[in-house]
Amino acid sequence: MTEQTWTDVDTYITSRIPHNDDALDQALRDSLSLPNIQVTAPQGKLLHVLATAIGARRVLEVGTLGGYSAIWMARALPRDGMLLTLEVEAEHARIAQNNFRNAGVDGVVELRLGPALDTMRTLIDAGGTPFDLVFIDADKPPVADYFDSAVRLSHPGSVIVVDNVVRDGRVIDGSTDDASVRGNRRLVDALGSDDRVTATVIQTVGGKGYDGFAIAVVSGG
Ligand code: SAH
Ligand code: DHB
Ligand code: MG
Repeated sequence: MTEQTWTDVDTYITSRIPHNDDALDQALRDSLSLPNIQVTAPQGKLLHVLATAIGARRVLEVGTLGGYSAIWMARALPRDGMLLTLEVEAEHARIAQNNFRNAGVDGVVELRLGPALDTMRTLIDAGGTPFDLVFIDADKPPVADYFDSAVRLSHPGSVIVVDNVVRDGRVIDGSTDDASVRGNRRLVDALGSDDRVTATVIQTVGGKGYDGFAIAVVSGG
């Protein structure tokens, strides 16, 4: 089993089950100047399915890039729903805003430019309405801090998804100097004893290689 097989299976899946339409394809084309690190189409649709399954009305995304995953989630929202997406790079934000307009989701999507931890701190201090779904997909060293902030911005039953926690299996290397892997280990090592959530990690393969999602539901209620 090779990466080629994983990519071929993603191609088969997306040829049988509708995934990208014109607006999502255009968002990918208009993101070609950015790093090619957005979620795959089946992963984007997983986020859409999850948002629909929990009846999400308010979604928070950490790490916008060109807005591809945000468009997938925004499309699961009711007309009066909202998705707030956080991005630190002005050029990424500019391209994403253009993609939101093209996809017709600019009415439900708000982008806030700046370091995500600062924005999340501001949101926590403001004490606003909690989010139903949080997708964490920005820089990896502080991912446990993003997760902690996400829990604080959630309610019982909120779902938190974290991208890229397995990274070709590097997550099991306890002696690594790689700050991203160490960040992911800090998250995964803490999840089991975090009684604010019930969580798991699911390994994935596909067109973007071997990786995994942490998926958690906030306890209580
Ligand atoms: N979720 C997107 C991909 C995000 S890539 C998708 O699947 O379509 C990660 C993004 O996080 C990049 O655009 C990067 O600029 C942004 N990022 C990195 N560090 C950040 C930070 N400290 N605060 C906010 N965004 C950050
Ligand atoms: C990288 C970041 C991501 O969010 C991703 O899905 C893949 C790769 C990266 O920074 O290399
Ligand atoms: Mg990612």
